[in-house]
Amino acid sequence: MNIPALILENFIRHQGQFLSGTDVGNALGLSRVSVHNHLEALRKEGFVFSAIRNRGYRLETEPDRFHPALFDALMAVDPCVYFQSYTSLESVGSTNSFVEKELSRGSPAPLFAVADLQEQGRGRRGRVWHSPAGKNLYISAGLRPGMSPARLQTITLWMGLRLCKYLRDRFSLPVLIKWPNDLMLHDRKIAGMLTEARVDSEYTRDLVFGLGLNVNAAKEDFPEDLAGIASSLSIVLEKNLSLSRLAHEIVHLISVAFKDYLEDAYREELAADWPVFDYLRRRQVCIGDIEGKVLGISANGSLRLERSDGSTVLLHSGEVSIGSAD
Ligand code: BTN
Repeated sequence: MNIPALILENFIRHQGQFLSGTDVGNALGLSRVSVHNHLEALRKEGFVFSAIRNRGYRLETEPDRFHPALFDALMAVDPCVYFQSYTSLESVGSTNSFVEKELSRGSPAPLFAVADLQEQGRGRRGRVWHSPAGKNLYISAGLRPGMSPARLQTITLWMGLRLCKYLRDRFSLPVLIKWPNDLMLHDRKIAGMLTEARVDSEYTRDLVFGLGLNVNAAKEDFPEDLAGIASSLSIVLEKNLSLSRLAHEIVHLISVAFKDYLEDAYREELAADWPVFDYLRRRQVCIGDIEGKVLGISANGSLRLERSDGSTVLLHSGEVSIGSAD
């Protein structure tokens, strides 16, 4: 961990308390002056420290934007042992590509990467994922599942379900999942998930689960083509959230959800709770030239549609467009 992260770790461990520059310096092998200079630099990055003579400094406010050193400090205070390693970045091409590369060069897994900005954020079907700095969350987790692709068919739906539950419980938001990879809030997309795998003859070598969650983006932060269809947590909550703290919580959530999935401890919950969080349930939809009413999902994650002649059809992938709900 770098020095700013170590300093922040101290303040987080003693949240609400005054720490003297000398004590922080002694704990880290730094001079009082050096601590002071680091605090000044952190102030420029949006941290507010109050200072009282003879008592020291107290951390009052953290920046909302994703701050890698703050995230590292939170991970030090409350580690996520499931992951063998992680990387927190100011900027990256794509967190999915970053994790993919780490896996293919043999880095210990599971691992994850989180960034403040993606220069080349990727969405499904070769689309661009709008990834501005200081607003949203971009996080990817990778592992080597060592199982057949067939056993991993429902992992994105499962992760989405757990994310919906988390966002509902944490912020009282009615977040729903739109098959196969979107999270919706009040009929607008607030998150996209992108799962990518490298498969060698019926064996999944590497798997990367990527999440882009719109957190503090305001209406005017979205480009014109997304303005009418995208939203963010802050637009609905009418307040900004700490991206570093949210990322830390979501990393824990991902680790538990991965573990449950790989241990096959997900099937009952997915079947029972899918109808509760299913954005498309009972809606009339079109996928390519197939039209029908959504009944739910099959055990392997396909979308079940009822056609007008009463027959049922299973769809494994596709772009859903919505007609009216009945
Ligand atoms: C979609 O809805 O099309 C999926 C979007 C997935 C975006 C996330 S952001 C973090 C990770 N890195 C990427 O390049 N893409 C995923």
